[in-house]
Amino acid sequence: MDNNRVLVTGGMGYIGSHTVVELQEAGYEVLIVDNLSNSEASVKYGIEAITGKKVEFEQVDCCDYDALDKVFERFAPQSVIHFAASKAVGESVQQPLMYYRNNLNSLVNILTAMRKHGTENIVFSSSCTVYGQAEKLPVTEQTPRREATSPYGNTKHICEDILRDSVVAYGDFKVIALRYFNPIGAHPSALIGELPRGVPNNLIPFVTQTAAGIREQLSVFGDDYNTPDGSCIRDYINVVDLAKAHIAALGRMRQGKMKDSFEVFNVGTGNGVSTLEIVKTFEKVNGLKLNYRIVGRRAGDIEAVWADPSYANNELGWKAEATLEDTLRSAWNWQKHLNNK
Ligand code: UD1
Repeated sequence: MDNNRVLVTGGMGYIGSHTVVELQEAGYEVLIVDNLSNSEASVKYGIEAITGKKVEFEQVDCCDYDALDKVFERFAPQSVIHFAASKAVGESVQQPLMYYRNNLNSLVNILTAMRKHGTENIVFSSSCTVYGQAEKLPVTEQTPRREATSPYGNTKHICEDILRDSVVAYGDFKVIALRYFNPIGAHPSALIGELPRGVPNNLIPFVTQTAAGIREQLSVFGDDYNTPDGSCIRDYINVVDLAKAHIAALGRMRQGKMKDSFEVFNVGTGNGVSTLEIVKTFEKVNGLKLNYRIVGRRAGDIEAVWADPSYANNELGWKAEATLEDTLRSAWNWQKHLNNK
C-alpha cells in the first residue's frame, strides 16, 4: 500500500501527541486511535492549535479487534506508530494480568489487522528498560537485553519478540522498534505536554508539581548509588526530539533504506544526568527553589543507564538537539499552562 496515511495508536498521550504534531508538520495524514485510559480528548485541540490542521481521532481500544479492523478498513494506513500501552512500572507489579492483556493483545490485534489490510510498516515504542542494569555504559543496540524486572518491562521484551517473529514469518512486514530513554519536557508552545493522572510516578511531573505547590515535597530516591553524586543516572531526552525520531524512522522505511526488516534504535541523547543534577538544573533555569529531600532507594530502580545514540544518529540521520536547560524550561512552562487552566 502506497500512501502517506499513518495510524497513530495512543496519539492523545504524551509522546503520541508530540509525534502527531511532527507528523502533521511533515505532511503526513494522521488518524489517532486512543481509548483515553490515560489521556484526555482535549489534547486534540492543543495539537490543532500548534499545527493549524484538523486532527482525526477515534476513541478505539486496540484490544477491541473488531473496532480496530473497521479503522483499518476505512483509513487503509500505509504505516502504524504504536504508542498505546500501559507504562507504570509499579502498577504493572500490582496488576500484571492487566499489563499483559493490554500491552500484548493490542500489539497482536494491530499486526493481525495490518496483515489483513496490507499495511506493512510499524514503528513500535520500546524502552531502554530492556537493557536493565547493563554491565557496560553507555548501552548500544548490541548490549544484551536483560531479564525484565517488572511485568511492564517484560511486555516490552515480549512485544519486541512478537515483532521479530512476525517479520520472519510474514515477508512484507517492516518494523522499527525505538528504545526510548527518559522522555521529558513539553512542546515549546506549552500547548501540549505530559498529563499525569493522580500522583506522578515519573521524576519530571513530580518536580513541576512540587514547584507548583501541588505536591509538598519531592523525594529523591537514594543518594548511596555508585555514581558521582550518589543519585541515579538516566538519559533524559526532550520529547519533541523523541517525536522527530519517529518521523526519521518512517522516512527510512518508506524510502526502502532499512538494512533489515526488523531494526532497533536507541533514542537518547548520549548524556547521563543524575537525579540531583535534574533538581539543580531545574531550579537554576527556572529561578526557583524545590522542596526536596533524599529518601531511601525506590524498589526496582536501576543505578545508571544512558544511550550510545550513534547508530540512530548515523542511520536515521536524527540527533537529539534540545539542551537540558531548554527542556526543563519547557517542562515548567507546561506546568504553568496547566495551573492557569
Ligand atoms: C522507568 C523505565 C522506563 C519506563 C518508565 C515508565 C528504566 C531504566 N526506565 O523509567 O523504561 O518507560 O519507567 O514510567 O527502567 N525519581 C525520584 N523521585 C521521584 C521520581 C523519580 O528520585 O519522585 C528518580 C528515580 O529514582 C529515577 C529517576 O528519578 O532514578 C527517573 O525516574 P522515572 O521518571 O520514574 O523514570 P525511570 O524509572 O528511569
